[in-house]
Amino acid sequence: MNKYYDIKVLYGIAILAISIINICNGEQCANINIDHRIDCTPEIDNVTLAECTKRKCCFNTKLSSSLINGNPKYIPTCFMPTDYMGYKVTQVDQQENEHGTVSVFKIKLERQTPSGFPAEIPVVTVEITLLNDRSLRLRFTDIKNKRYEPTLPELNLPKPTDSLNAFYKVNVDKTGLLEITRLANGAPIFQTDLTKLIYTNQFIQLKSKLSSPLIYGIGEQKAPFLKDTEWHIYSVFNHEQHPINDRPLYGSHPFHLNIEDKNTGLSNGVYLRNSNAMDILLQPEPAITWRPIGGIIDIFVFVGQSPDDVVRQYVSLVGKPAIPPFWSLGYHQCRCCSQPDTLAKQMLITNRTIAAGIPFDVQWNAKEYMVSFNDFTLDELRFGGFGQWIEHLHDIGMHYVPIIDPGIDPKQPKGTYPPYDDGVNDDLFVKTNTNTTFVGHVWNKSGYTVFPDFTNPKATDYWTKQFRQFHKIAPIDGAWNDMNEISNSRHITACPKNSSLEYPPYLPKRMNNTMYDQTICMTSKHHIGVHYDVHNLYSLYMAIVTDNALKSVRQKRSFIISRSTSPGMGQYAGHWNGDVYTTYDEMAWTIPSIMNMNMFGIPLVGADICGFTGSASNNSFYQEMCARWIQLGAFYPFARNHNEKHMDQDPVAMGSLVTRAYKQALETRYTLIPYLYTLFYKANTNADTIARPVFMEYPRDPRAYDPSVAETQFMWGSALMMAPVTKPNVTKLDVYLPSGIWYPYSVSGYGKPVDSSGKTMQFETPLDKVNVFLKGGNVVPILPSRQTTTAMRKEKFTLVVVLDHNAGAEGQLYWDDGDSIDPIKSGRYSLFNFDVSKGILSTHSVVDKYREQEIVVNNVIVLGLKTKPNELTINDKKWSNFSYEESLLKLTIDKIELKLNGVNNQIVWK
Ligand code: NOJ
Repeated sequence: MNKYYDIKVLYGIAILAISIINICNGEQCANINIDHRIDCTPEIDNVTLAECTKRKCCFNTKLSSSLINGNPKYIPTCFMPTDYMGYKVTQVDQQENEHGTVSVFKIKLERQTPSGFPAEIPVVTVEITLLNDRSLRLRFTDIKNKRYEPTLPELNLPKPTDSLNAFYKVNVDKTGLLEITRLANGAPIFQTDLTKLIYTNQFIQLKSKLSSPLIYGIGEQKAPFLKDTEWHIYSVFNHEQHPINDRPLYGSHPFHLNIEDKNTGLSNGVYLRNSNAMDILLQPEPAITWRPIGGIIDIFVFVGQSPDDVVRQYVSLVGKPAIPPFWSLGYHQCRCCSQPDTLAKQMLITNRTIAAGIPFDVQWNAKEYMVSFNDFTLDELRFGGFGQWIEHLHDIGMHYVPIIDPGIDPKQPKGTYPPYDDGVNDDLFVKTNTNTTFVGHVWNKSGYTVFPDFTNPKATDYWTKQFRQFHKIAPIDGAWNDMNEISNSRHITACPKNSSLEYPPYLPKRMNNTMYDQTICMTSKHHIGVHYDVHNLYSLYMAIVTDNALKSVRQKRSFIISRSTSPGMGQYAGHWNGDVYTTYDEMAWTIPSIMNMNMFGIPLVGADICGFTGSASNNSFYQEMCARWIQLGAFYPFARNHNEKHMDQDPVAMGSLVTRAYKQALETRYTLIPYLYTLFYKANTNADTIARPVFMEYPRDPRAYDPSVAETQFMWGSALMMAPVTKPNVTKLDVYLPSGIWYPYSVSGYGKPVDSSGKTMQFETPLDKVNVFLKGGNVVPILPSRQTTTAMRKEKFTLVVVLDHNAGAEGQLYWDDGDSIDPIKSGRYSLFNFDVSKGILSTHSVVDKYREQEIVVNNVIVLGLKTKPNELTINDKKWSNFSYEESLLKLTIDKIELKLNGVNNQIVWK
């Protein structure tokens, strides 16, 4: 090294040393609480002092030991000083509405300090619209260039209300502080420092304070229900990935619910409407940071009086879920991966399940029925007679659903395979950046796969045509959209090496090395844009196109289960949780996962009962696990048994213990399907969740937020609580019963009422009995369980009245033909309200437009009645056919043949 360089190096070191001292000791750095840091170099792992200095940020590698034990990786060592001026607020304007109150704020931000990311956006506009009394929209846009924004979900913006009565207050000041607080108590709801925003072409970073560490949502993740605020990053990007921790799973849902105070239940929520891949960082301040790698910031803030108020606002915005066909609420059975390899084997399994008397509605197949795993083909050699067999299933009141992958085989001889030929004719396959057809590989045995572009307006006709043709040979009743993230295991067309879409400046931290891992190239082209932007929307477009195809071919309500999901999916499809392992741990996780999907507006959700991957074998360990799993799975809103290779996992194959458990659990479920169906009506009309955490019902009970309750118990609506066993060798289970009266319920009978003042109590948990409780204060319409829901619908109802402390109760029954398209729109449905007070049960016919079937109540059971009535009248006529069981406080009124349609009734007991 010559002298000149020596001096230069020494000078450099000296400057560096001075800046270390400045950086480390300067007030602008020293005063920052470690929990409040904002990452200045989020794209650089193990950032150096030099890299940090270049960005004019603070460098400090000293971390508190408690955090080091947590997750040190995401605690920034290079963070923004308090006076960091990324953007400067140069203008704040306010617009008033007709009431003279502010309805829109417009803030202009101008970049001052380079963020270090390429393609900085120099001038950003932040527009805050006060949508109504409890919600706001914050849009951060590039003043000069229109940036990509997702085309879906379509938004159902709330009707504006007088913002004079708003629950919140907005404060924007010139220093860059943007604050939304709750008017009633000043609690922070959204709070960001706009000067610290990073807004570049392929990386955006926005941080906001959270109201508390009680944060739920952010999907789809294999994670506890309560999200981790110890510097945890959740990557959000639709990804074929069996559920493991810290990897983005099949769906993307950048929505969270934040509880402000568990004593009041006051809550808020935020939805980031952005379809690009992103990271969401939670830190102990508590705070949240969104890091989308494209698009814009389009944030909706919901201020609620309770958790369900927040979730309802979100689900109403992105689209309320559909009411599924009635039959789809029955039990489903499937199998894959070289099994069943023949129709004969398939029939054997179906028939033995029916013979065992297990309620059973829907038979499924994975790709084994196809020729060479090609969609819309049928292997006549192994599955000859398939069509007749499906007809037979229909004859016995059952239904049939096959797997349909998006991937199409391009290698069949020309003129022999319409799904490919038609796609070519319509120029419908996803393209590469050079406008050739993108070729990858999924299952197709040829080794090649191309992907229909479902965003193309021509896709509906194309897909409908394929369904129509296939329906002629196999009269299917629904579609199972698998592998639709898009999953792709081989890049036959290689992804361009020099593209910033394939290699963006910031790779979400939980991804597997590249953006295109297990999917198609980011530079691929769809009708509505590049894959980089629209990847997370692919399955939603596929669901919409499939929904249209099924409706047009069957002229009935569609039934779709989709592996990949995004906001708005619930309007078209349900979801199952993918390839869960056959372990107790995975079984337990399915509880948070189904509650999450309900909060994301996809209530028709379940996991593969008894697990998909792994080795359920016919030994006592797995028999016990499968018995426990059905006791939980019978209460997934979508209940399906499905597994891969290894062994048959249908109930009969697993032996008599499991068969008995299935029968008991499913018969209990079947009795409750009228109640479940009514919950779908409420979800569809009111954006209610179905499978929900206990705190949704008890928002002011702090114990309900305790993970030992919130992660392990769940409710169906407000009347039913499930406390499943998710561990081996459990004979007694601690169950938290919030304040009220609870009645153990199963098909085998009603248990003794339990009066709880909000306590944990212990219950026996035999392997052949579900752990389910009815909550006092409800009227629950039930039907007797039958082999299929088709048979069940012909039966007469029982009204189960479960009284609360004031001897009151209320409930509802929704009814339609179970299978017609859009019953609410067409108005062909019936709705009955029930209420009980002072010894009078009243039934009210609220809507009476579905007349094909009369609703007849044969029995009424009243639980919690303290004394035996002396006298009973039905519509003023004396009725003597009743009995009373003192030990259960149970009144049974028999054979009343009470018609509900178009009339109001009264049953009075004294
Ligand atoms: C993957 C799905 O997750 C699984 O459920 C299905 O059985 C297979 N694909 C079938 O191909």
